[in-house]
Amino acid sequence: MIIDLFPTSIYMDSFELSQEDHTNLSQVKLSRNRDQCAWVSSHIHLLDWYQSIEVKVRKHVEQYVYNDIGLSRGYNMQCHGAWLNRNDKGDYTEIHHHSNSLISGVYYLSVNDQQGRIQFYDDKDGLFGRYFTVLNYTEPNNRNSHRANVECKNGTIVLFPSRLKHSVAPNLLEEPRFSLAFDYTLEGIFDAMVNKVNYVPVK
Ligand SMILES: [Fe+2]
Repeated sequence: MIIDLFPTSIYMDSFELSQEDHTNLSQVKLSRNRDQCAWVSSHIHLLDWYQSIEVKVRKHVEQYVYNDIGLSRGYNMQCHGAWLNRNDKGDYTEIHHHSNSLISGVYYLSVNDQQGRIQFYDDKDGLFGRYFTVLNYTEPNNRNSHRANVECKNGTIVLFPSRLKHSVAPNLLEEPRFSLAFDYTLEGIFDAMVNKVNYVPVK
């Protein structure tokens, strides 16, 4: 018997946006980001503007946190940032995480597999830690890897804990790559639960 303790659970699904939503997003103003390696919308609360998109994203965020992870519905999920990304040929995003946030995600508007996958990094550097990251295995799997990349397709939504480090590989094609990124945080009552650590009994 194998018991996988403390996994990092990432959510993937897909949905369609309306033509009107696509048209609205195509008109969003973009500027070069601080690292000069991609374009990002000047407005970083886009889902406040486009409620029809927020309703669709929220459905998946709620599925992830309440049904898949088991967070109490006593907490509400609040979108506190959403921005559009455009990666031209050669553009990429360096390794980073999203601060002051619980759940982050991305929705792929226009991508294909040569335009840069999102790559996630295990902050424990794999099962055996940073001093044993380079070992030979018969084949890579979720237990023996410390990096993972996810195939991006149009209409895919990927959700992950905001603390999880990630990057985006360079766009190798002439056509721009478009994605919508967003952050959700918690709203609710936070009691002083210093002595109440969650544990799961293993039988
Ligand atoms: Fe990010």
